Amino acid sequence: MLKFRQSQLDSPIYKGGNPISLLVEKYGLDPDAINKLGSNENPLPTPESVQKAVAEAALDLNRYPPTSADLCEQLAAYIGRNLVADNFMIGNGGCEVLDLIAKSFIEPGDEAIICRPTFPIYELTLRRLGANVVYADMNDDLTYNVERILAAVTDKTRLLYMTTPNNPTGTILTKAEQDELISRLPKHVLIVADEVYWQFNTDESMADSIRHVNEDANIVILHSFSKLFGLAGLRIGYALGPERIISYLKRGQLPFHMNSVAITAGLAAVADRDHIEETISMTLTERPKLTAGLQAIDGIEVIPSQANFVLIKPEKDSKEVEEALQKEGLIVRELSGFYMPGYLRVSVGQSHQNEALLDALTKISAS
Ligand SMILES: Cc1ncc(COP(=O)(O)O)c(C=O)c1O
Repeated sequence: MLKFRQSQLDSPIYKGGNPISLLVEKYGLDPDAINKLGSNENPLPTPESVQKAVAEAALDLNRYPPTSADLCEQLAAYIGRNLVADNFMIGNGGCEVLDLIAKSFIEPGDEAIICRPTFPIYELTLRRLGANVVYADMNDDLTYNVERILAAVTDKTRLLYMTTPNNPTGTILTKAEQDELISRLPKHVLIVADEVYWQFNTDESMADSIRHVNEDANIVILHSFSKLFGLAGLRIGYALGPERIISYLKRGQLPFHMNSVAITAGLAAVADRDHIEETISMTLTERPKLTAGLQAIDGIEVIPSQANFVLIKPEKDSKEVEEALQKEGLIVRELSGFYMPGYLRVSVGQSHQNEALLDALTKISAS
């Protein structure tokens, strides 16, 4: 008897292969000329501090890894806000942490609320556990609809996923909306505040989830090392929450589940404040330039973003535009799998990459 449905195995995350090699094979492109702007990664090269840490960790691979206690300490110091190491739990990437959260709170038949369009992994992890996924979709302008969310809550609701800045829209949940939700949600609902793009937000009205962690609310925040810290390949993410929730989540983890290379590299990445600042400053310089450049192209609707990507809707068929861009060596994300058919998501790259994207999109839109 198979436990997983074929549709789950068909999900893009299980389709192997490196997207750059696939394009090289398909169109005979030079791998160095390919710009990968489809996964909201950090486009800067891996910093030397991290490369050195990885090389050092590689000398002791005969030993079991250290615990992630030091990384939790360092994250508490990096974020501040009166947080301590016990507010943190490290996992193999944000996706694994999302899976652990769902496994820790969902029994078959429980309900979980998601606000489409959003990150598809919530639904994937929930359905595997037999949860009923309830939709309280965003408004047409891609803001959250607090009344719709509250109306979707029942006695069976366990989890409510709130993503800010949201993927793939780049829009935010405001403080006022979050405060309203927290004051009116019943005690049996845990908010999963997915904030993996938080460092790129410049809107002061964005929800302040850490304040609610400090107040011991029913909230657990998700952060990732795949975005700002530039370690998508190493798989490090973490949950940040009240100690009672974090210590409960930790019961679901296996001993030695994090490898020593990831832990050592994670420590180096948090310590490398120059790399952090360079990434933020590059993203915040390039994002408005990319947004303005996209807005200047005829036949493209642009949704301004608080993350390291921008959502666009071409008048032309989005899958055809994606393919035409691939032929020019540009990888972007077509969003059928993110509840947004007809749209594309483009990551903010380095200046020359964004310019290449704008040139190609201008050409494709005019053709
Ligand atoms: C909203 C959101 N949450 C979580 C993740 C998971 O990140 P990772 O598993 O790479 O840490 C992503 C990755 O793109 C994301 O966009």
